[in-house]
Amino acid sequence: MIFINFKTYPTGTGQSAVSLVGQLTELARNTHVKLIPVVQAADLREITATTTLEVWAQHIDPISYGAHTGSILPEAVIEDGAQGTFLNHSERKFESFADLKIAHARALEVGLKTLIFAQDLSEFKLVLELKPTYVSYEPPELIGRSDKSVASEEPDIIKKACRLAKAMSTPLIVGAGIHSREDIKTSLELGASGFAIASDIMKAEDPIKELKELIEGYN
Ligand code: G3P
Repeated sequence: MIFINFKTYPTGTGQSAVSLVGQLTELARNTHVKLIPVVQAADLREITATTTLEVWAQHIDPISYGAHTGSILPEAVIEDGAQGTFLNHSERKFESFADLKIAHARALEVGLKTLIFAQDLSEFKLVLELKPTYVSYEPPELIGRSDKSVASEEPDIIKKACRLAKAMSTPLIVGAGIHSREDIKTSLELGASGFAIASDIMKAEDPIKELKELIEGYN
C-alpha cells in the first residue's frame, strides 16, 4: 500500500493531478499494489469522478457545518468522494492534541478512514490511543530528502513503532525521504504495512517510471 501525497506540487495540482491519477489507476491495475492518491481538497471531486482508486484528502479541520471561512469541512470531503483523510501531518499540524481528537472523531462520524502522523515515538504512542485506521511515523527532518530516508537512518525506530502499532492492531505506514527500492524492501522487512511518499514521485521527471522502480522493492 502506497499513499502518494500530492502535497501542493505542480504535478499534483489541478489538471496535472487528474491526469497523474489516471496513470496511477492503470499502474495499480498492472502491479496489484494498492495506490492511494492523497490530493488537494480543491481537486477531490474531479479526481474521484474519474478513478476507481481509493482517494484521500490531505487534511480536514476539527469543525462542523457553520461559520468557518477557509476551513475543510469533513462532510464536504466525503461528499466529494474521498474515502479517508490524513491528520496531523507535520506540514499541517493541529494547534493542540484536543483539536486532533476532534478532527479524528469528526472523520469517523462522517465515515472517513484516517491516517494519523506522528513525528517521534512519544507522539506515536499518543496517536495510537486514538485508534486510527493507519498510523504513520515520519521524522520531519527527513521529509523531502533524496539522499537519506527514514528507512536508511532510523530502522530501529521503525522496528519499535511496528511493535507498538502491532500491539494495537494498527497498520504502520512509514514515510520521509523514501526514494529507493531498498527503502521499500528494508521497511517491509522491519514490519511496515505501507508507505507515504511525496517528493520522490511528485518531483520526478517521470513520476510513473519512478514509482515503478519503487514498487520493485516489493519483489
Ligand atoms: O506524507 C508523506 C510525506 O510527508 C513524505 O514526503 O517528500 O519525504 O516523500 P517525502
